[in-house]
Formats: sequence, C-alpha cells, structure tokens
Amino acid sequence: MKKKMIYLDRNENHYGPAPEVFKALHKRNFNKLTTYSRDYTRGVKSKLSERLSHMLGIDEQQILLGYGAEDLLKQAVHCFLQSGETILVPQYSWWYYKVIADEVGGVREIYPIQENEHQFSYDIDAMVDAYKMHNPAMVLISTPNNPTGHSIPWDHLIKVLRAMPEAVVVLDEAYTLFTNPDTSYLKSLVDEFPNVIVTRTFSKFYALAGIRIGYALLGKQLSELNTFSARYLGYNRLSERLAIAALDAHDYYEDMRQKMRADLEMFFDELNQLPGFKAYRSEANFILCRIPHNLKQSLDTYLKSNGFVIKFLNEDGLNSHIRITIGTQEENRMLMDLIKKFIEEIRNGELG
Ligand SMILES: Cc1ncc(COP(=O)(O)O)c(C=O)c1O
Repeated sequence: MKKKMIYLDRNENHYGPAPEVFKALHKRNFNKLTTYSRDYTRGVKSKLSERLSHMLGIDEQQILLGYGAEDLLKQAVHCFLQSGETILVPQYSWWYYKVIADEVGGVREIYPIQENEHQFSYDIDAMVDAYKMHNPAMVLISTPNNPTGHSIPWDHLIKVLRAMPEAVVVLDEAYTLFTNPDTSYLKSLVDEFPNVIVTRTFSKFYALAGIRIGYALLGKQLSELNTFSARYLGYNRLSERLAIAALDAHDYYEDMRQKMRADLEMFFDELNQLPGFKAYRSEANFILCRIPHNLKQSLDTYLKSNGFVIKFLNEDGLNSHIRITIGTQEENRMLMDLIKKFIEEIRNGELG
C-alpha cells in the first residue's frame, strides 16, 4: 500500500476549517444552487463582499472577490501592467509574481531583502531607491513574505507608500492573520492611499484553500479593476457561504492561531540548536531555516522515507534553505524529532 505522506511544503493549513464551516455545508439549501448569486436588487456584488464591508468599514464598491489571492493578483497585474512596463518585486518572493509579470510582458525588477541576526526585513531605503531608479507601474509587497516569513512594520509601510504615489502598489497579505488579527488599519490604508490594493485569502488562516476564495481591497483610484474584474452573474454561492461561516468561527481560529504561534517558537528554538542550522523568525504559517548545504539531499530523502515532505529551496541566495509549513501540533512534534534524529544519526556515522 502507498505510504501516506504529510505535506508540510505547501503552506496549507492542516488544522482544517472550523466545525461551523462543515455545519454550513450540511445546512445548505441546495435549491439555491440553480440560481446566480449576484444580489442585484440590493446593489451589492455579493453577500460575502457585503459582510466584509461591514466587518472592515470599507465601502462594498472597494471590495472585490476572486478565485483566491492568486486570481486577484493576476487580475491586478493584467489590468495595470502593460507590456514593457516595470513591476518591482521583493528579491525573494513567491514564484508566481514572476509568472504573472511575464504573462503581460512586464519587466521585473527586484528590491533587496536584508538578512539580520534572527530574521529578514525589507530595506525601506533600498525600496524607495529602487522605485526612483526604475519608475515602476506596479510594486508588489508581500507581508508576511513567502518564503522569508517577515512582515513590513506599519511605520515602514507608510513611509514606503508615501514615496510611491505614482505606482499601483499591491500588498499581498495572504498570511497576515496568522500573527496579526487586527484588521482596523485596512480602512485607513485604502482611504489614505488611493493607489493601494490589499489582497487577502481564505486559503491560509481559514484553512479553505480548496474553495478558492480571496478578496482585494481597492484604493479609490483603482476602480478600473472593479470594471476589469466584474462578474455580472456573481461568484460561487457555496464558497461564499463557507467563507462567511469561517468569519463567524472566531474562537476556533483564535485557538488555532495560539497553537501555531507556539509551534513557530518551538521550531525557531529547536532548529537553532542544531549545528549549522539558522532558523529565521516568521509571522506566517511557515518557517525558513538555513541548513548545512551538504545535508540537503540526505535530509530530503530521510524525511520522505519517514513520511514527511518539506520544501527545499533552490534559488540564488536561498539554496541551502528549507521552508517548513507549520502543521498540527502532533505533526510538528514528529517532524522536529525526526530532524533531530537525522542529525544524531549523521553524528554517529549511522547514515552514509
Ligand atoms: C504570498 C502568497 N500569496 C498568495 C498565495 C495564494 O493564495 P490563494 O490560495 O488565495 O490563491 C500564496 C500561496 O501559496 C502565497 O504564498
């Protein structure tokens, strides 16, 4: 029989969605599935965008739903970046940014990410310099960033945004909720910066990657994206209903957040005790760690043969690094113990 593997390489959330989400799934009035979901009569795009509007205090017109943050990022780039124009992206980032820039013939330039003693950070002076040098039509800022796990502090973000009034700036906040439950800043962000788009998702924190739903908050100059993205017949009725149920399940997700943060600490402490390992602080549901380069292949093989898959990075500047997705408490403990056992066996010369 094929061995069941535990995939901690994809930044999915193994706690799964709240019980309230399953209840909503079973309660559905399936007759409604025959009708389009757009709520024309009340002048709103959808029940979920209406709910988000109440929750965040942001005009419903400025909220766009999409098929995950992936879809919204792609739409934003296709709407605002013309062939030959420049998009600024972080030095290390989610590979997909390159793909969407390439799709429209955009020119990709990078701004640096600096490595500090315990974490990575954006160098905001270097970001502003890159902006002045390249005059980009778009800037992508991922916070927390994948794969480094660092966020941009609020005062730095404001400084950077004030220096970039001419570009469309996309803040990818796919992982923000894992450490920052506060959403009160979002309204002031889109109010003060008409050129900003914030993208968020139900895939990560809410553990609903399979229903493919995310949303974007649009600064007031960016209504063009509303038109570009208009879905006149509505969105996915079922996905929206499940997303609303997740928003209602506050206690479940708060408990999960605490457990994940404790395990981030555990990985940070225990990985840093291993010889030649350097783990970086993370505010997401994954942790990045540099390991001795010569152990890459054998660690990968060892973990796979014991049922675990983690991400081994292979890019300039990050090619001796692993990225571990935070799983359930039980998975995390098993994985950390396995890594320690591997190091122990290497030390004792038990592995070839
Ligand atoms: C930085 C970042 N943004 C967005 C996404 C995709 O989110 P979604 O599932 O909402 O498309 C990912 C997925 O891994 C990601 O790493």
